[in-house]
Amino acid sequence: MKVGILYSRVRAEEKLLFQALQDRGVAFDLLDDRTLVFDITQREGDAQPYQDYDVIIERCISHGRALYSLRILNDRGVSTVNTARVADICGNKLQTTSALTAAGVPSPRTLVAFTPQSALQAIEELGYPVVLKPAVGSWGRLLSKINDREAAEAILEHKEVLGTYHHSIFYIQEYIPKPMRDIRAFVIGDRTVAAIYRTSPHWITNTARGGKASVCPVTPELNDLCVRAARAVGGGVVAIDVLEDPERGLLVNEVNYTMEFRNSVLPTGVDIPGLMVEFALRVAEEGWAAANGWDEETAAALDSVSLVGE
Ligand SMILES: Nc1ncnc2c1ncn2[C@@H]1O[C@H](COP(=O)(O)OP(=O)(O)O)[C@@H](O)[C@H]1O
Ligand SMILES: [Mg+2]
Repeated sequence: MKVGILYSRVRAEEKLLFQALQDRGVAFDLLDDRTLVFDITQREGDAQPYQDYDVIIERCISHGRALYSLRILNDRGVSTVNTARVADICGNKLQTTSALTAAGVPSPRTLVAFTPQSALQAIEELGYPVVLKPAVGSWGRLLSKINDREAAEAILEHKEVLGTYHHSIFYIQEYIPKPMRDIRAFVIGDRTVAAIYRTSPHWITNTARGGKASVCPVTPELNDLCVRAARAVGGGVVAIDVLEDPERGLLVNEVNYTMEFRNSVLPTGVDIPGLMVEFALRVAEEGWAAANGWDEETAAALDSVSLVGE
């Protein structure tokens, strides 16, 4: 068994994964995304050094590096956790919401617009407060809760004048008046293995922004919702943000594909890195569909969904 870990920096999560591999007697190589060079126009018969891995676990910090590396690896038949498809959908909130909705997974109402003028129209249609998010981003950065038209105009003008191209794709979402917390659930294959509440006096509850982690029971309802959300984005090892709407119940906010779990092992008592490594080994031995617990019919149905428009 030859396992690779594609990484940017060795953080707490990576150390836990190394330990989980060592505990199982699995040798692994470290592939540093700062030094990697891919020859993507290799000729027939030119073996690439990364091609003989049975599975590569992706742990990049940058979405771009993760996405392109996974695409190159998958195109050359190398198994990865997660797949390029999962990274592509989850790395972009617009694509995630679209995939969730297509699969019938309840999410906050979201509008998309491409100009400040149409974005303002969309904001007014949704009604205040609204949340504006960059389609690609994490750790609660550059999120705006907009409470009135004047704030909307100011944010839109700032984005137009100071923002990059990415800020001209407007992802506009209703604000969910959740309790002072959200839920972060960890799905590995066909099971929600653990969940935490992230509690904060701020409306942005990310632990990177000071949200406090405590154990959240994995009810059958939460498990079912999160497994459906994971399947909607292509399966694998994902961390799902869930909002509790006082009227509609659980709504899936987003899905993260290079999940952080350092604050979740202790409160939940679940060996998340161990389960991640076991999933990766199953992918190496049995393939992606089997590791996700999909029968042939499910796998085929998901494949045909992913091929629409490609
Ligand atoms: N529509 C919303 N209504 C209420 N709270 C939200 C909404 N969207 C995001 N949040 C809060 O902000 C946090 C970060 O938002 P999220 O969409 O997960 O972005 P990020 O990728 O930066 O984590 C969420 O965990 C949640 O606490
Ligand atoms: Mg989030």
